Amino acid sequence: MRLVFLGAPGVGKGTQADRVTAQFGWPKISTGDLLREAVRNKTALGLEAKKSMDAGKLVPDNVVIGMVRTKLAESLCGKGFILDGFPRTVQQAEELNGILAGSGIDLDRVINFRVSRQDVVHRLSGRRSCPKCQSVFHVDFAAPKVSGLCDRCGEALVQRSDDKPETIEARLKVYDEQTAPLIAYYEAKQKLSDLDGSGAPGHVYDRLASVLRGLGAK
Ligand code: AP5
Repeated sequence: MRLVFLGAPGVGKGTQADRVTAQFGWPKISTGDLLREAVRNKTALGLEAKKSMDAGKLVPDNVVIGMVRTKLAESLCGKGFILDGFPRTVQQAEELNGILAGSGIDLDRVINFRVSRQDVVHRLSGRRSCPKCQSVFHVDFAAPKVSGLCDRCGEALVQRSDDKPETIEARLKVYDEQTAPLIAYYEAKQKLSDLDGSGAPGHVYDRLASVLRGLGAK
């Protein structure tokens, strides 16, 4: 199944994409993860992207589209994929249409995660990530067994630089202005399914899996 996970920062797109990948096998393509990897590796693209990311702004469309085009090429022939955090602008959505059409395929569904602003801010401000294996935790909702240390590899957990309060605010504003218009865009194409993203991750996953099974996922 070819899916897009859409929604404001912190709604749980990455958490749910990992669960869907584990259950159904479709690989996750996260532009945020790819950009953070480029930043860690100090590539030219990473150094350029870091400035936008630290300011809570979007990385320029041409940079992100080029990156997705390369990554997607590996998944176009497979069973499907989950695009997590892409597209984020109408231009990115149009470019995605072109890439898929070039391979004679289309998206199956765009899942629009809905969570209250208050919950999103709580989720983002409490997120902690492992800089070594990239596992994601939350100080209240998904706490590691030993406070401050990664369950998987024991590394000290860190807060993402863009999860500081002032950057969270900037990211939410960018979402409202540049990404939220995609809801109407995909609604008009009859591709959109709204998903209540509130409650515990397991409950959200149950709702999501039921939507996916309704679309024929096995
Ligand atoms: P990106 O990494 O994509 O960030 P985002 O979209 O802001 O999404 P997040 O990763 O913050 O949230 P999420 O919805 O995945 O939530 P998560 O599951 O982690 O992008 C970062 C930056 O890269 C952007 O600002 C931009 O600069 C750049 N970028 C990326 N893509 C781009 C693009 N296409 N174009 C241009 N620029 C781009 O959950 C969050 C926390 O909540 C975690 O701690 C988790 O444990 C917890 N949690 C999850 N679910 C629940 C639940 N149900 N209940 C309680 N806690 C929960």
